[in-house]
Amino acid sequence: MNNTQLREQVDLIREVFMYTRKFRQATFVFKIDDSLIDDPAFPSLVKDIALLHHNGIRIALIPGAVNHIDKILSQYGIETKKVGGIRLTTAESLPFVKMAAFDLASRLMTWLAGHQINAVIGNWVRARAMGVIDGTDYQFSGHVDKLKTAAVKDILEDGDIPLFPSVGWNSLGEAYNISTDELAIVIARELSAAKLFFITALPDLTAENSVVPAGMETGDDGRIYRMTLADAEDFLKINRDSPITRVLDCAVRGCREGIERVHIVDGRIEGVLLKEIYSNTGSGLMIHSSGYDRIRPMAEGDIDAVLSLIRPFVEKKILIPRTRESLMEKLADYVVYEVDGILHACAAFHPYGTESGELAAVAVNEEYRIAGIGRKIVHYLIDQARRRGFVRIFALTTQTSDWFLQLGFRYGEKRDLPETKAKTLSPERNSRVLLMDL
Ligand SMILES: CC(C)(COP(=O)(O)OP(=O)(O)OC[C@H]1O[C@@H](n2cnc3c(N)ncnc32)[C@H](O)[C@@H]1OP(=O)(O)O)[C@@H](O)C(=O)NCCC(=O)NCCS
Repeated sequence: MNNTQLREQVDLIREVFMYTRKFRQATFVFKIDDSLIDDPAFPSLVKDIALLHHNGIRIALIPGAVNHIDKILSQYGIETKKVGGIRLTTAESLPFVKMAAFDLASRLMTWLAGHQINAVIGNWVRARAMGVIDGTDYQFSGHVDKLKTAAVKDILEDGDIPLFPSVGWNSLGEAYNISTDELAIVIARELSAAKLFFITALPDLTAENSVVPAGMETGDDGRIYRMTLADAEDFLKINRDSPITRVLDCAVRGCREGIERVHIVDGRIEGVLLKEIYSNTGSGLMIHSSGYDRIRPMAEGDIDAVLSLIRPFVEKKILIPRTRESLMEKLADYVVYEVDGILHACAAFHPYGTESGELAAVAVNEEYRIAGIGRKIVHYLIDQARRRGFVRIFALTTQTSDWFLQLGFRYGEKRDLPETKAKTLSPERNSRVLLMDL
């Protein structure tokens, strides 16, 4: 193995450690397309879910059921109509719908038992009838009314995996057939999941199989690996309806309901989940709603607000003073984090040449501290720097080194800095040098 390969492997291991720490105790919700159950990649998919679970990630599973329900109904010669993709679940079909849904859940349970994982199937979903819409009576097709969130959280707390068949009950105990997409979104939202996954049996979206809006990035393999919620909405406007755009539409709905990250992955690809979770560019598509959406370049009109944001930290000698002129001069280096027109945070990336740059002026309004804003704005700048081809980012700090270490930086020396920067260092400030290789 040569040095470059070794370094790449070590970098990968570092990334894995970083994400492992970040996601410990986080909740991930997986909706698994039922057609994957007979796919040759399914055993390794379950194995990877088990691995995530054993690594401290809390997992809720929703087996998609549409194909299996179709199969069972046709085996028993029962026909159901679909209107706008929604099945009209008749009284006659309902027992077979339940049979298919619970069969899938129990098959998943069996698979998980093979990895020493307890899974629990429960009646945590309160449902209500969809009723009559535009004259069509949807009969026993329902919506999620309420989730018994506390009960589900107890299951997760106990280290078990809750499994959700596509059935819910009203307060009288009457069952309804529920869309697993809707179920997945509600569960992820109610559990404040860090991620919701749609594990499909569909190919990734690429520049070849779709119309990519101007400015949207694709990877070397042509895959679209990340979209903001706004990007995804634009994408849907210019692409034809297809099975994968329907999944994207669900992802958009999930993001709009407040789930921060929704991932769409092709479950037929070996190791797809691990790659998507533990590497920066992933192996599927991530749609993200918050954080990055609130970060934008600083405009001239923001300068006064940015000066007031950093003032308290300058007074405490945590940050070096900046003037209106110096901010104006480096306007393009700064970004701000804005919510409802109010700036909560700012940060800058100052390039030194084409390889390395300084992360500076990171400041979060005291009122919004410890809410993850600092981390988001720094990750945003790191991401941007990486995309622009920078290989190293450094920060100088007197009092905040622990925070940078927590973000994955390591200590460096003055000699690690670009020469032009090293020359300007103030001996009185005696700042610590922190580095990150991108
Ligand atoms: C440091 C700063 C940017 C952090 O922003 P934030 O939005 O509050 O931080 P996040 O929510 O992303 O991170 C919170 C975590 O960092 C830790 N943390 C916050 N400030 C810290 C500090 N000064 N030192 C060490 N750890 C710190 C919190 O304890 C929390 O830890 P946890 O995840 O284990 O609970 C913010 O406190 C700030 O503006 N400080 C003053 C300016 C500054 O020091 N800038 C950096 C030098 S350029």
